[in-house]
Amino acid sequence: MKALILVGGFGTRLRPLTLSFPKPLVDFANKPMILHQIEALKAIGVSEVVLAINYQPEVMLNFLKDFETKIGIKITCSQETEPLGTAGPLALARDKLVDETGDPFFVLNSDVISEYPLKQTGDPFFVLNSDVISEYPLKQEPSKYGVVVMEESTGQVERFVEKPKLFVGNKINAGIYLLNPSTLDRIELRPTSIEKEVFPQIAAENKLFAMVLPGFWMDIGQPKDYITGLRLYLDSLRKNSPSKLTTGPHILGNVLVDESAKIGEGCLIGPDVAIGPGCVIESGVRLSRCTVMRGVRVKKHACISSSIIGWHSTVGQWARVENMTILGEDVHVCDEIYSNGGVVLPHKEIKSSILKPEIVM
Ligand code: GDD
Ligand code: MG
Repeated sequence: MKALILVGGFGTRLRPLTLSFPKPLVDFANKPMILHQIEALKAIGVSEVVLAINYQPEVMLNFLKDFETKIGIKITCSQETEPLGTAGPLALARDKLVDETGDPFFVLNSDVISEYPLKQTGDPFFVLNSDVISEYPLKQEPSKYGVVVMEESTGQVERFVEKPKLFVGNKINAGIYLLNPSTLDRIELRPTSIEKEVFPQIAAENKLFAMVLPGFWMDIGQPKDYITGLRLYLDSLRKNSPSKLTTGPHILGNVLVDESAKIGEGCLIGPDVAIGPGCVIESGVRLSRCTVMRGVRVKKHACISSSIIGWHSTVGQWARVENMTILGEDVHVCDEIYSNGGVVLPHKEIKSSILKPEIVM
């Protein structure tokens, strides 16, 4: 079986992290987002993953080369010369997706995480959808996602509405699809949206089916959702593989620490924290609801909450970093600095406090 991951797009909502790496290579829970997906696809028997990409394919391919052998899956690339949206890339990759078996194939948005309960079903067109995030009152923000209105007992989709202006329902399109090869007959090779142009049409013919995803789901393409997504992911690890979580007197709630990270004396870490490979957390540090990516140093008595610390950054001693602060790659926050929601571009040095949420260029 094959799968296609929609990798394109510039990931602007996850800047400054995506200034250093394409969105799928941004770490989530200590490994690049896309590896969570590729491993899950491998686990259900997918033998080839096609990356539908519209810029810098060599960055992705070089990175993933090692994993092809490690994971044991073929990874190829289908490159657009102009962004083809969420459906056009399927037409472009047609020859890679369809083979003599006539098997259906998976299509995934690159920024969704879940327990990936991917399985084949007999239905001709299949959209997986999620209604598990009760925190997302779509009544308040109906246009955040695509919405699926379905008959729950049969899974038949009555309507598929992409980013509705008014509330139509609470079942979100999870961006995980199992499609029949014949779906491709409906898609032209031009910039086109699967959510706006293809699914509504199939639904109108009563041929679109969906299931409610068990477990958690989140689109982590925006910082706030990324932080919520980490909490949901760690909750699910707690339920399904608790031994992967870190334990100890200095740990509070669900915490994932890479085995190569070093943690000093007298720290208090958690809940909902991921500490990546090679990080050094000095003594007396307080971390909660945050991601500390590969190679970061957090100096003595610093306090970080609800924030993302990009690769190889340094947070100075007694610094306080909070409220959706996002540090890009290799940012240096000086000692005793306060950051309240600062969004800091890569390679910057922060010498004075950031008192209100703002972008530091
Ligand atoms: N190859 C390629 N080319 N990929 C693209 C392009 C393109 O031109 N445009 C977007 N993508 C990829 C993105 O990288 C992402 O993986 C996926 O398509 C969806 O794009 P997003 O920009 O993340 O869309 P969204 O989050 O606003 O909405 C989508 O996801 C929601 C759930 O996460 C829709 O599918 C919604 O219906 C859905 O609810
Ligand atoms: Mg998205």
